[in-house]
Amino acid sequence: MDALNLMALEKLAERELSAMTWGYYYGGADDEVTLRRNRAAYEDISLRYRVLVDVGERDLSATVLGSKLELPVLVAPTAFHKLAHPDGEVATARAATAVGTTMVLSTLSTTGVEEVVSAAERDIWFQLYVYCDRGATEALVQRVHAAGCKALVLTVDAPLLGRRERDIRTGFALPEGMGIENMLADGYARVDAAEGDSGLAAYFARLLDPSLCWKDLDWLRSISPMPVLVKGIVRADDARRSIEHGADGIIVSNHGGRQLDTSVATIEALPDVAAEVGDEALLLLDGGIRRGTDILKALALGAHAVLIGRPVLWGLAAGGQAGVEHALSLLRTELDLAMALAGCATIEDIRADLIAPKGR
Ligand code: FNR
Ligand code: LAC
Repeated sequence: MDALNLMALEKLAERELSAMTWGYYYGGADDEVTLRRNRAAYEDISLRYRVLVDVGERDLSATVLGSKLELPVLVAPTAFHKLAHPDGEVATARAATAVGTTMVLSTLSTTGVEEVVSAAERDIWFQLYVYCDRGATEALVQRVHAAGCKALVLTVDAPLLGRRERDIRTGFALPEGMGIENMLADGYARVDAAEGDSGLAAYFARLLDPSLCWKDLDWLRSISPMPVLVKGIVRADDARRSIEHGADGIIVSNHGGRQLDTSVATIEALPDVAAEVGDEALLLLDGGIRRGTDILKALALGAHAVLIGRPVLWGLAAGGQAGVEHALSLLRTELDLAMALAGCATIEDIRADLIAPKGR
């Protein structure tokens, strides 16, 4: 695989994918302002590197929920990996194992959770969408726990799906023979075409629960034997409430710019949330992480680790398991160099003093 960086990998992937899949993976909501903002915000943050630090040996490992990761980058939950490659989520899980990190498996997986967990030799966390049918949701939680998942990630920024015009134009639907393997009950597994809409937006509107609120986090906490993380937070008060309602971790995320357009870039939302959360919970961030220096900035501003969404899909499309390993390895190489150049030998050395105050 000769992609020099994640942007080059994206170009390789675009050539492999159908217009429908490319549009679904790449796109954001409405005018895609937040999609661009997530990336652009990193350019506005300057690093104040430290010199004459012994960086002869670097250690990129980080600990999340008691597990050691070889690098502070997890695989974010993304739907429908078989649209990118026939090996689907199994290839992604094997790649995460090979580089030494955790994969978060989406509810909307085209491979059943049991198969994914057994393909991985490392932790798998499960991202949960809450269905209107709470019985079905509870059965799903029990199923993923029985399968061996180590944490639940409750996504809270998608009471309805954002309006993604690319998907309306292409008439997004899952091809025949592909389905949501974690929800095989009648009416739950298929994402069919919808007249004048994205088939996925119609699926959300029909089955997922837009009335989800804080008391439901208490409910989830009460039925889950696994730690619960809340994904989709961009405000300190919501982070505080998540902790009050039992969350073990917070993921600062705007769903990769796919939900509320013009919402704040995640790296700009992070400092307030980090100040509120302190050491009380695990703090992760995703959205627009494409360079080692992006990771350095997120960690300096208070995240314990980050997640990547689209780059994993680009790797999968361009080269299956090897492609995903390549995506993660590029970030490892870039972070390793960025740490050396910034005067950080370990992840703990990455602190707020590395960030130049705005306007200076
Ligand atoms: C997502 N994301 C997502 N999030 C989630 O909680 N459940 C899901 O099923 C999905 N599915 C999904 C599909 C695709 C194609 C994309 C691009 C994203 C959001 C994802 O977890 C993450 O928040 C963003 O992708 C992070 O931004 P980047 O790294 O893609 O810029
Ligand atoms: C998406 C949903 C599935 O962003 O989370 O497409």
